[in-house]
Amino acid sequence: MTDARQAALDYAHQNREQFLEVLKEFLAIPSISTSPEHKADVQRCADWVADRLKSLDMENVQIMPTGGHPVVYGEHLKAGKDAPTVLIYGHYDIQPVDPLELWTSDPFKAEVRGDNLYARGSSDMKGQVIASFKAIESIVRTSGLNVNLKWLIEGEEEIGSEHLGEFIKKNAKLFKADFCINPDAGMINADSPTITYGLRGLAYFELRVYGPERDLHSGLFGGTVHNPAQALTELIAGMHDKKGRITLPGFYDKVRKVSKSERADIARLPTTPKHFLKQTGAPALWGEPDYSPEERVSIRPTLEVNGLLSGFTGEGSKTVLPAWAMAKISCRLVPDQEPDDIYKSMVKYMKKHAPKTIKWEVKNLHSSGVAITEKDSAGVRAMAKGLEQVWGKRPLFKREGGSIGVVVQLQKYAGVESVLTGFGLPEDNAHSPNEKLHLPSWTKGIDAFINMFYNLE
Ligand code: BES
Ligand code: MN
Repeated sequence: MTDARQAALDYAHQNREQFLEVLKEFLAIPSISTSPEHKADVQRCADWVADRLKSLDMENVQIMPTGGHPVVYGEHLKAGKDAPTVLIYGHYDIQPVDPLELWTSDPFKAEVRGDNLYARGSSDMKGQVIASFKAIESIVRTSGLNVNLKWLIEGEEEIGSEHLGEFIKKNAKLFKADFCINPDAGMINADSPTITYGLRGLAYFELRVYGPERDLHSGLFGGTVHNPAQALTELIAGMHDKKGRITLPGFYDKVRKVSKSERADIARLPTTPKHFLKQTGAPALWGEPDYSPEERVSIRPTLEVNGLLSGFTGEGSKTVLPAWAMAKISCRLVPDQEPDDIYKSMVKYMKKHAPKTIKWEVKNLHSSGVAITEKDSAGVRAMAKGLEQVWGKRPLFKREGGSIGVVVQLQKYAGVESVLTGFGLPEDNAHSPNEKLHLPSWTKGIDAFINMFYNLE
């Protein structure tokens, strides 16, 4: 092991407590990108990130406006033309915290309980952002960096990176790099370092159904007008058949066939049906019978109801026939499905099946492209070796069910491939109450990051 590498690792180990304090500060900012009332917090969070980059001696640090929340950029280009240039990606935005009453501690006052740090964004992905900052700090404060670095830290990942594609297109030169390290994908379990080589895309809709011009007395009018809540749920029920297949017209038309050998690789992953039962606490699993649960969350597209709203939902009872009903629905997509085609499929389905007794509209909320990344490249090799040096075993390679907009945007508009990894666990409650970060994995992740930089060929 080189002295420089060891010095950086020693620095990280000696400063672990300080690293944790900085993470807690980051977690205290409620940078919820989807909520207009948090716009100022999102901006404040961008300022905070920019200050941290400056404190790492990064240059040309800028808070760059986009059509939505800003991107924070920074660079260190002093390693010379022959040294590799690594782009590090992160997002400083987070998901909403509701239902708040299910949190054991304040989502914005990070609290350590046992091996875990509880707060919104701890695992997805402020923990990973700080891991990358602290890995770089450990190198910069010891022997110094011998690679060129660029940072792209965005504030709209959790809402589909809507304005980031345009932004990267416009600033393609700025983001040119040999590869991008993206630690926003998780690991299979705490003993299995993981490199992700595929992400699903997303198409997100809001479906509204309108009936009578106002809420009605259900005794006076029930049985004479079609209840919008009923009509909506009938429509939703028809979106899957008995085998769990999606019935939107043309939905599967562009789904690329997955090879036998890839399915065999997936079958070897340590994610059995039991694993899914344990992770979810559901009474039984559900889904397409011809695919394993692991396949159903990675190589198969899905349609999920994310939320339903209609009528009276408060305490007590009210005999009302609601005037309208609404559902938030999203589809996870696989190669070569396109979000726009799926929107068209949804509209076709509604045209075909919506009864004359209601009016309806489908709003296209946001979307994210499907991504498949290289399984073997200088970046992947350096990261894989770095993970192995820390965990003592080779990483597993898998496709993930989640979506990260930037991956395909960087491929498309800047020609940059991403190396996807991360130190979050499936049981970290990402997007759920009591989100947490498993601190031993986080600490190892910082070490793996440091190692990665010394492994570059
Ligand atoms: N980090 C996640 C995505 C992820 C989770 C990738 C686990 C791999 C493993 C990311 O922050 C996320 O949640 N993305 C959203 C994007 C969507 C709003 C377009 C998602 O997947 O729901
Ligand atoms: Mn997320």
